[in-house]
Amino acid sequence: GTTSLARIPPSVLRTHHKRDDAWAAFNGKVYNITPYLSFHPGGEKELMRVAGRDGTKLFSLTHAWVNVDLMLDACLVGFLVPEPSS
Ligand code: HEM
Repeated sequence: GTTSLARIPPSVLRTHHKRDDAWAAFNGKVYNITPYLSFHPGGEKELMRVAGRDGTKLFSLTHAWVNVDLMLDACLVGFLVPEPSS
């Protein structure tokens, strides 16, 4: 269930920025986009622009009508949370 999903701050998200280990955040949710890269109709290169980052803005600029929630449900890793203060 969703209660067991990880809470991921930007510093952790940033470490997953490689072609073979790519995560990205959309609308507060973090997805492992690695298995989807080769299927993206807009190409791998476009999708890799948001690897390790919050891709919400770029996503909505390119195709706000696409339902990322439904498409990548199986790739959900957790929730993007603010960086813990020290
Ligand atoms: C096209 C999904 C992220 C850029 C598409 C299409 C889908 C899709 C379904 C076809 C849309 C249509 O024809 O109506 C996704 C998913 C994403 C994602 C699930 C997140 C994991 C991104 C990002 C960018 C991007 C972050 C830009 C940096 C594009 C472009 C096209 C496209 C430019 C148009 C390709 C064309 O028609 O030639 N994407 N996308 N996508 N996507 Fe994405």
